[in-house]
Amino acid sequence: MDLEILGRALTTLPADDDHPYRTGPWRPQHTEHRADDLEVIGDLPADLDGVYIRNTENPVHPAQQGRYHPFDGDGMVHVVGFRDGKAFYRNRFVKTDGFLAEQDAGRALWAGIAENPAKSERTDGWGARGRMKDASSTDVTVHNGVALTSFWQCGDLYRLDPASLETLGKAEWCGDFPSGLGVSAHPKVDPRTGEMLFFNYGTDAPYMHYGVVDASDKLVHYTDIELPGARLPHDMAFTENYAILNDCPLFWIPEALAVGKYVSRFHPDLPMRLGVVPRRGNSADVMWFDAAPTYVLHWTNAYEDGDEIVLEGFHQETPEPEDTGNGSLYERMFRFLALDRMGTHLHRWRLNLRTGQVREERLSERITEFGMINSGHLGVPHRYTYAATGLPGWFLFDGLVKHDTVTGAEEHFALGEGVFASETVMAPRIGSTGEDDGYLVTMTVDMNRDLSECLVFDATRLADGPLARIRLPERISSGTHSTWAAGSAIPGWRDADRAEDALRL
Ligand SMILES: [Fe+2]
Repeated sequence: MDLEILGRALTTLPADDDHPYRTGPWRPQHTEHRADDLEVIGDLPADLDGVYIRNTENPVHPAQQGRYHPFDGDGMVHVVGFRDGKAFYRNRFVKTDGFLAEQDAGRALWAGIAENPAKSERTDGWGARGRMKDASSTDVTVHNGVALTSFWQCGDLYRLDPASLETLGKAEWCGDFPSGLGVSAHPKVDPRTGEMLFFNYGTDAPYMHYGVVDASDKLVHYTDIELPGARLPHDMAFTENYAILNDCPLFWIPEALAVGKYVSRFHPDLPMRLGVVPRRGNSADVMWFDAAPTYVLHWTNAYEDGDEIVLEGFHQETPEPEDTGNGSLYERMFRFLALDRMGTHLHRWRLNLRTGQVREERLSERITEFGMINSGHLGVPHRYTYAATGLPGWFLFDGLVKHDTVTGAEEHFALGEGVFASETVMAPRIGSTGEDDGYLVTMTVDMNRDLSECLVFDATRLADGPLARIRLPERISSGTHSTWAAGSAIPGWRDADRAEDALRL
């Protein structure tokens, strides 16, 4: 392995930190690496070609008011690139305005999500709530050959070189980026049109906007979406002709919001409303469907089937888990992050555009979330979803599941005690001829061996275990959202001696 230290962030976290989302498997990193020609155990397929990129929160300072929430940390992005049967790795902080300001200050300047925004040292900021740091730490996607990181509470989209992970600035869209509200996590790229669909949300009417950026990075559509009040949507879906937005009945209590308090509540008496809008439609064109009350954090896909829109995602049995008094203080505080406490199940909603009716069905009895599909099937019918199982009580992924949404069959791979995965992507192999003709790629945190690996599985044989294990330079923090970009989608990829030298976009 050819290893170089690219940078080190200033950290003021205490040596005796006891926060479970800053220690153990969530221990953050503060060193940035370039590592080429990584050690591979097993066979790295030569037809695996492209980059696996993962984002996640990676704190460097204690919380401003001492109440750190796992969604507060700065964004750190990791990439494992595969080319010609070899693998390289980089990890870099997203150099957001907030990260740089707090590096200069040597402390947290903005209130975290579990803290009082009225006491935020900096009174500017980002996010639907406001007075927050846009850490760009939630999601990552690749559009027009550039990696874009995003923040769950809305913010800028930071542009990163997809191989070197160098921050290239913010998305500007020729001056049309909605800088006031920003963009939510989970913008969606349509592989057929090259368009990126997105939404944002806030605390003032109309409470949501929806937009489309075309394949040349121009904002070609941006419209109000009127909601009954402030909502907390997290994800969206699309089909060939429609975007699907949502109004889930879990949102900030309006009376509390009116006096500057941000307390979210699930309202089991309200339906989950699903908004189907033509891809270039506006608020008046939205067809709203009422489904049974739940909160959906992530959709896996949507597609059209005759008069119906088929939408799949993870239904929550208990969007607001009760504090049972069991477990540690932190386990009780962060019960909202534990998949078992929320009871997340892969689910299908069929929305009939002719009758307005909704039919629902549970697709699996197994608790999973953070599902990915072969991205070539986004917006059109798919069969397979690759999802994570959760360690009971914690925000940690202890296994992988391949759901066959046609037959209901499942393949499961348990990582073993003390080993945790990230969101797992499906990477079609070069010359792929079927939906699952490719590889599953994830990054692990192995607490038993104090190291991290990138695992590569045959997507048709998940239960057989990994084909290859690639050792990373240091144990990384556990993390979630990731994306796959084929080398063919990255400018300069094949001709570059060193990928990052060719990618000054
Ligand atoms: Fe998410």
